[in-house]
Amino acid sequence: MPAIPRTSFVLVAGFLLFACEDTGGLSAVPQTLDPVHVTGTNLVDGELREPELRVRFDRPLLPISVLRQSLVVVTNDNRSVEPPVVRYDPVLREIAVASPFPPGKEWLTEGGYYRLVLGVPEQGATVGGVRAVDGGTLARNATRTFGFVVRTAPTPTTATDYCRDVQPWLTARCGSCHGASDGVLGLDVTSPTGLQRTAIGVVARQTAKGPTVGGTEPSALVLAQDLPRIAPGDPSRSYLIYKAFLGEQPRSASVSVGCPATPFSEAERGEPLADGDRSALADHIPGGAMPPTGPGATRDELLHLSRWIAAGAVLPSSCATCR
Ligand code: HEC
Repeated sequence: MPAIPRTSFVLVAGFLLFACEDTGGLSAVPQTLDPVHVTGTNLVDGELREPELRVRFDRPLLPISVLRQSLVVVTNDNRSVEPPVVRYDPVLREIAVASPFPPGKEWLTEGGYYRLVLGVPEQGATVGGVRAVDGGTLARNATRTFGFVVRTAPTPTTATDYCRDVQPWLTARCGSCHGASDGVLGLDVTSPTGLQRTAIGVVARQTAKGPTVGGTEPSALVLAQDLPRIAPGDPSRSYLIYKAFLGEQPRSASVSVGCPATPFSEAERGEPLADGDRSALADHIPGGAMPPTGPGATRDELLHLSRWIAAGAVLPSSCATCR
């Protein structure tokens, strides 16, 4: 791809600022649901320096609304590119937009200029676009087009070690009830073999459609039907994360909504849910937060859990223990 003249970048950057401030006369439309805002991206000075483009939101999203149709990547001259693979991390409230091709095959060209466009559904439409758990759509007057130049730079991998970062706190916080013998709802989180047998790919009873899978009829408000307790590669479809997420230890921090969306801050750890969003999410999750009593998981523990699941939820045969 030929080099993009600097003027075109300046023009698009100008458009972005304009789009951000433009309320388009829609601000008078009554909003019954809280809108969703973008709070940050991993773009640095308008450049994408990592293999994935990541966009973070202030409200928890409905997993089934995170479709590639809701996030379109186009070239500078508006040609669409091969639709990306999109992945949602409920702990960070972050969507990753990644190459649809296997490693080694180029998707976006180094030095090329692209835009990510987040769709907003037509007024009154009940489906379409990225949505919050309660159906709230992306704010119309918020930045929703991100222009960026692709640059490759080696990224340090933040590897999560299952035995060091996941197993100890699952056992400590959850093991008293979800242990090896007769764990509550048949869930054993206290060892790799327990997770393999009772969680990986096992449909959570509280989301199961009916007696055929050993569950009771779920409430109409369940987050999604037949969610596995742990879905390898997909934290957004891993029910166990939501249960632990609801019980996250609070942190006194408020989410700042940037305009235009600012790069991530706070070393990628994200922010805990606001109280209103916690109850909106809880409305869609049967039962209570986990653990029901005692301190819940910390932000770092939840991030490790989510990254381990995103990386495929690979389990060792056992974790070494000191005797
Ligand atoms: C004091 C006992 C107790 C502790 C500790 C506990 N749980 Fe639970 N768990 C329960 C009970 C009771 C239920 C069913 C009622 C509910 O969901 O509120 C449940 C339900 C669940 C479910 C739903 C399973 C399904 O198939 O629908 C998941 C997932 C879960 N717990 C995960 C966890 C995790 C993760 C932890 C630790 C962070 C944890 N629990 C800690 C008692 C406990």
